[in-house]
Amino acid sequence: MSEKPKYYITTPIYYPSDNLHIGHSYCSTAADTMARFKRLTGHDVYFLTGTDEHGQKIERKAKEAGITPKEYVDHIVAGIKELWKLMDIEYSDFIRTTDDRHVKGVQKIFKQLYEQDDIYLGQYEGWYCTPCEAFWTELQLKDGCCPDCGRPVERMREDAYFFRLSKYQDWLIDYIRENPDFIQPSARTAEMLNNFLIPGLQDLCVSRTSIKWGIPVDFAPNHTVYVWIDALSNYITALGYDSEDDSLYQKYWPADLHLVGKEIVRFHTIIWPIMLHALGLPLPKQVFGHGWLVMNGGKMSKSKGNVVDPVRLCERYSSDAVRYFLMREMPFGSDGEFSNEALIKRINSDLANDLGNLVSRTVAMIEKYFGGIIPAPDAYLELDRALIDEVESLHVTVTNDMNALQFSQALTSIWHMIGSCNRYIDQTTPWILAKNEEDHPRLGTVLYVLSECARVAAVMITPVMPRTPERIYEQIGVTQDELKTWESVKHFGGIKPGSKVKKGEALFPRIDVAKELEELERQQEIAEAASKADEDVVFEQKPSISYDDFSKLQLVLAKVLECEKVPKADKLLKFKLKVGNTERVVVSGISKYYEPESLIGKKVVLLANLEPRKIRGIESAGMLLCAATEDDSALSLLTVGEDLPDGSGIS
Ligand code: MSP
Repeated sequence: MSEKPKYYITTPIYYPSDNLHIGHSYCSTAADTMARFKRLTGHDVYFLTGTDEHGQKIERKAKEAGITPKEYVDHIVAGIKELWKLMDIEYSDFIRTTDDRHVKGVQKIFKQLYEQDDIYLGQYEGWYCTPCEAFWTELQLKDGCCPDCGRPVERMREDAYFFRLSKYQDWLIDYIRENPDFIQPSARTAEMLNNFLIPGLQDLCVSRTSIKWGIPVDFAPNHTVYVWIDALSNYITALGYDSEDDSLYQKYWPADLHLVGKEIVRFHTIIWPIMLHALGLPLPKQVFGHGWLVMNGGKMSKSKGNVVDPVRLCERYSSDAVRYFLMREMPFGSDGEFSNEALIKRINSDLANDLGNLVSRTVAMIEKYFGGIIPAPDAYLELDRALIDEVESLHVTVTNDMNALQFSQALTSIWHMIGSCNRYIDQTTPWILAKNEEDHPRLGTVLYVLSECARVAAVMITPVMPRTPERIYEQIGVTQDELKTWESVKHFGGIKPGSKVKKGEALFPRIDVAKELEELERQQEIAEAASKADEDVVFEQKPSISYDDFSKLQLVLAKVLECEKVPKADKLLKFKLKVGNTERVVVSGISKYYEPESLIGKKVVLLANLEPRKIRGIESAGMLLCAATEDDSALSLLTVGEDLPDGSGIS
């Protein structure tokens, strides 16, 4: 048996930021999609991601939080890993630049470059802010002062090591010209050549003595390895390069694809190839620079306050829906605009309508007309042939587009086929064929064709939407693994007549656009208030209470049975609550924050033994617990997501 070809793909290593936004998820989703596609098409895939944890910024943030830099990053890295789990980012390894294996690897690389005179000692000059202990470049200064504290800065120098980029500039120009696929999309090749390489490279500062949180240069421990030699080396230290066990390095290097955002193409196509070449190592086959997900025209960033939280979106719409949107909305390589409205509309039109309808109509008709058993096809007519041809040509088109990282184009072709299927239903009118006994063979053909098309769609969306295919297979009765492979959709006709279909839940429920947008906006306001509150809220402790005092409060879980606005009282909502085997009414002043229907079924926290009070003529028996900002600009009703019964005590 021949060995599988290897495929090594990487994302950049992320800066540990306390809020990774949907823009960061974009890069990882694309890499995961590609990794899944390569696995499906018979490759032995190694998919690396990780975190870039050193530097002055982390050092300072940790100091502000009163913890060590390592404690600070540990906490954030745990959150990043959770996000990748939520989004089904299935990496082979997660490298942290604080890992011992990385630290040792970087020290060896630095030393080798120094010993062969590619690194030399020089002096770094910049603007220094003494209170912040930070160097700034001319561009970073704000009105000539420190951008962090606003105080005056001084011109300062410090010893630093430099990497001789300039020595390799001509070699790299030739290499890039001879290997036109190295930098993709190809427009970025010209940008690198014309903007950076041809004007001439300056040697790069690769160590600092004023920054402590980093990898020490082992032969000069007052120096810390500075930024790019540390960060870029991760792609080989993770594979055990130059360590006792370098089997992964031997197997997977050179990388087949480094996927990076467009702003860091420069470091990956200039510094990284020069480092590798100087070390005598082969270069990655390709660096692909993707575009940015922008919002209101600008790159998302916390300081601009335009970040979108991927966790919230995945929890509301499923990770598959979010992944689909990211891969479908913009051609890979270009920038694209994110908006809640665009996301919800895509979910409704492409997922709920097009894909959802194809599956649900097909299954419903097979249940209704053939007792749930997929019929065998009779003779194919021209109409069937046209659809079958489209399905068969799809395999080549989608394979090519996926290999070229044109995810949006691949999905467009798949959805074109899904659209053709829905039109085919309208053209063949199965409900009319069903009326006549002699049309039943024809009806069987139509429903066979449709169930096979649903299978093909399910297989083809697998790299982008890893969860949905299984839900489709369950409905259309596909149980054998060999009918779920990429190879199995090369030719039409894999699905087995005689299999049993089973109606399931709607794949993607339709969303009420207007209501949903309102709800998202409300949540965004809360998130913004929360992030401001983190910094601004002054917490004042009240006088202590005894355990006895506390035990007098009867806090319980209550289930919302009914919820409505109180007429002529714009602040009030009237709740009917179930608490174990009892029911009661509670009035709460939170109408401005919630649509009453959205609260039905929720488990809320009730102070049950507060003395009853009449509010607008309604007797209110208790109080619902909420969290709110001091000025009441944002409020959140406390709910419990776990499946605990109402009536459960809270202590
Ligand atoms: N740590 C460096 C990379 C070192 S690689 C040896 C870094 N980290 S980052 O966290 O700032 O960015 C990680 C990736 O997320 C980059 O590829 C970046 O382009 C991507 N994105 C961050 N915001 C983005 C958008 N709004 N849209 C798309 N991708 C974006 O750079």
